[in-house]
Amino acid sequence: MSLSKNDPIGIFDSGVGGLTVASEVMKRLPGEDIIYFGDTGRYPYGSRSPEIVRKFALQNVGFLSRLGVKSIVVACNTASSVALDVLREKFPLPIMGVVEPGARAAVEATKNGILGVVGTRATIKSGSYNQAIKRLDPKLRVIAKPCPLFVALAEEGWTKGEVAKLIAQEYLHSLKQEGVDTLVLGCTHYPLLRAVIGEVMGRGVGLIDSAEETSKELKELLKKENLLNPRKEGGEYRFLVTDNPEAFLRVGRGFLKGKITKVELVEIERLKGEG
Ligand code: DGL
Repeated sequence: MSLSKNDPIGIFDSGVGGLTVASEVMKRLPGEDIIYFGDTGRYPYGSRSPEIVRKFALQNVGFLSRLGVKSIVVACNTASSVALDVLREKFPLPIMGVVEPGARAAVEATKNGILGVVGTRATIKSGSYNQAIKRLDPKLRVIAKPCPLFVALAEEGWTKGEVAKLIAQEYLHSLKQEGVDTLVLGCTHYPLLRAVIGEVMGRGVGLIDSAEETSKELKELLKKENLLNPRKEGGEYRFLVTDNPEAFLRVGRGFLKGKITKVELVEIERLKGEG
């Protein structure tokens, strides 16, 4: 497979959450074309088994590869946690996830060496953040906690107010008691609840969102692979989903403003032969 600097970058997530990553990539690399794929028809990934998430991830990357992308960003913590190895084994193009960049940022930020990680059940059960953090510094303590209702709150738009606060208090009090000074928001949806999570954790706790860090590492990766598009602006964007393009467009406009005007539907059946 020959990859060219002018080819687009492929970014995928189970739905809209990965647009936080896409938005950072657009800011940092404005000359790059992007194909964003949201697997809205098979969302959510976070409560599924690793086997099925791996299967979906392989199909998604197979599909994006056939559209001619030069690299892939797995902009979903769950898929990054359980599928990155198999994707890298199977596809001969640079593939990165969001776990390692988030872990690196957290390790740099902590002062007292006690880190918290919140994510979906699948992400926390995989131990991916724990391993990535310990690889960087084995002396650090990592306390991980699944917070599945945060995704539902974000999807529902209940990112502020009493309900969000009560749920956040319930999930986060043990992390507070352990004295974490840095908390990784290890799920694409959680940055939407940043204000309430920050309020519950208190001022002294730094919140890490891997979107920005991922865009920095993507730039380095493309440079290293000699795949950085020399164009400085004018990147073009395509958005593809497996269900409900209208809803995606509505939410997407909130994230990306004028950068998203059209969303294309892909039949899930088309993905079945991929991967
Ligand atoms: N994108 C998923 C993640 O970052 C959250 C939503 C889902 O469960 O699919 O883990």
